[in-house]
Amino acid sequence: MLLDTTALNQQRNFFDEHDDLWLFGYGSLIWKADFDYLERQPAYITGWARRFWQASHDHRGTPEAPGRVATLIRSPGAVCHGMAYRITPDVLGPLDVREKNGYLREKVPLTFLDHSGNDAGRSEGLIYLASEDNPAFLGEAPLADIARQINQAHGPSGPNREYLLNLAHALRELGVDDAHIFALEKQLG
Ligand code: SIN
Repeated sequence: MLLDTTALNQQRNFFDEHDDLWLFGYGSLIWKADFDYLERQPAYITGWARRFWQASHDHRGTPEAPGRVATLIRSPGAVCHGMAYRITPDVLGPLDVREKNGYLREKVPLTFLDHSGNDAGRSEGLIYLASEDNPAFLGEAPLADIARQINQAHGPSGPNREYLLNLAHALRELGVDDAHIFALEKQLG
């Protein structure tokens, strides 16, 4: 079943009354920033781990042959690195459409990093989270099976493989070690 979260997200106005807000990207939002932003800064969130456990029926796959894209799962003690963007609230409308296949806006604490990789302040931020109870959540599978699905899937935004390779490249550029992502990249062949 497909879920369109666009209307739900329009009611999740955690940053009402704010002229700007921080959006934290951990998947395609790291390497595909096709929206206006005022500034960006590497950042991390804690207690969450990045996993290719969410189906993509609309970008990197089709309803008949879904791809797999990143979401976050709760993982005490884990650190998930990504990119934070300071945006104006009007940017959220198009992002809600982009992230409509199961992702909901959530508010989380962010920690920013400076050029040397040291903590450089904190702020509340917004993430798009595809939680375990959304209809497109696929969950865990053997890495080889996930890699096979990613190798085969293709959607309106392009090959699923490209999503994973771009994410691995972007994380490397940020100096981030993410065992799940790099192991999957290796499996892609
Ligand atoms: C994100 O990148 O933060 C959300 C998931 C995605 O769009 O890939």
